[in-house]
Amino acid sequence: MADQNTTSTTQTWTHRWTFVLAAAGSAIGLGNLWKFPYMTGENGGSAFVIAYLVCIVLVGIPIMMAEAALGRRGRHSPINSMRGLAKEAGVSRMWELVGWVGALSGFLILSFYSVIAGWAIAYAVDMFSGVFQGMLPEQVEQSFEALALDPVRMSIWHGVFMAMTGFVIARGVHNGLESSVRIMMPALFILLLLLLGYSITETGHFMQAVEFMFAFNLDALTEEALLSAMGHAFFTLSLGMGAIMAYGAYMPKKASIARTIGIVAVLDTTIALVAGLAIFPLVFANGLEPGSGPGLLFVSLTSVFAVIPGGQIIGGLFFLLVVLAALSSAISLVEPLVAWVIERTPLSRLAATVVYCLMVWLLGIGTVLSFNEWSGEEYQIFGMTFFESMDYLTANITMPLGGLLIAIFAGWIMKRAHIAREMNLSSGYFNLWRALCRVVAPAAVLIIFITNISD
Ligand code: PHE
Repeated sequence: MADQNTTSTTQTWTHRWTFVLAAAGSAIGLGNLWKFPYMTGENGGSAFVIAYLVCIVLVGIPIMMAEAALGRRGRHSPINSMRGLAKEAGVSRMWELVGWVGALSGFLILSFYSVIAGWAIAYAVDMFSGVFQGMLPEQVEQSFEALALDPVRMSIWHGVFMAMTGFVIARGVHNGLESSVRIMMPALFILLLLLLGYSITETGHFMQAVEFMFAFNLDALTEEALLSAMGHAFFTLSLGMGAIMAYGAYMPKKASIARTIGIVAVLDTTIALVAGLAIFPLVFANGLEPGSGPGLLFVSLTSVFAVIPGGQIIGGLFFLLVVLAALSSAISLVEPLVAWVIERTPLSRLAATVVYCLMVWLLGIGTVLSFNEWSGEEYQIFGMTFFESMDYLTANITMPLGGLLIAIFAGWIMKRAHIAREMNLSSGYFNLWRALCRVVAPAAVLIIFITNISD
């Protein structure tokens, strides 16, 4: 990753695995732990999960490979990479817009992402200080509601998270990121497995959760759920907004794109599924509502930490790791634009970061208020709160749009020889990837877009 003052882009990751770590750090975050379970709950369980898995394989992975390949060939920030690649392919500079759409997505996503990460900080602090010990599930639920009704507390924690993000970005991503991903991610995974073990052995509702998540029931699949599943595939893989392109720019020429992206996608999906399987048994055992929305992760797991021995420490540690997973994603939301600002303007990395983070914090206040002052109908946009509309706009519109353009560019615009060299696959696999990227992925995105707009 680029050091503080580096504008050159010939630099590569220090180690073969660093790209995997960084991309996994970007992909694995609140999307897996917080968003996936509550969306599954809201969209009726297995129909959503199955659609999500299909979207990951047919749309997500091919586009992710394309995005990494464009980054590696472009070797600059996403905006400038796209400009260079458009020039190389002899097409209009307008393709640079892909980078701008991505920068916009990153900005909007971070504004609400940081608010939710702020909740996790609040929970880590309260957990370590023993606030939740001995609480009943209803009380845990009430205390979550109390947090959601308190805009001042939420804005402060949201600010703390933005400050943490800014700190890592300003130092240069390299130092902060690599070590945190290398140690924290495995730790998070182990804690999740422990929680899963608890849910399997202690709740008596594990099979109900399995059925809820995996029973084959395509009747339940609505168009809306399909759009959400596709949107979530983009969100969870950090696709269509330049994060993977920015990291791809630092990828060594020799590394295999298919293999590294495959590893990242499998890790990401596994973590989401494990999180779901750990959370839903608790939801059913405690009589919570699977479709209760954004508080699901916080309420369900906290009610376990409240009663198990050592829950204070384990729970505190868990939310701390959630915060760090969110941090490694947040960095990748900022990096594409900040990298461009440094390449193109006289602003320093520090100045760019401070201005950017302040703006994100301000926009995030809209999300903070969506849970309290602005939750009423008079503040809604197309029937959604500010938070919901930011989420909808990015996951369901700007990210798939960015991904669609990336797929078209890699599949149709770039010279075959150029993209083939990046992919470096046997001709059978290359043709499979190309068919997915040229036809299947764009068609899926378009069909899902059009059916939703026509409703
Ligand atoms: N993939 C991240 C998550 O699941 C969110 C994210 C989206 C990060 C887009 C970067 C870019 O939490």
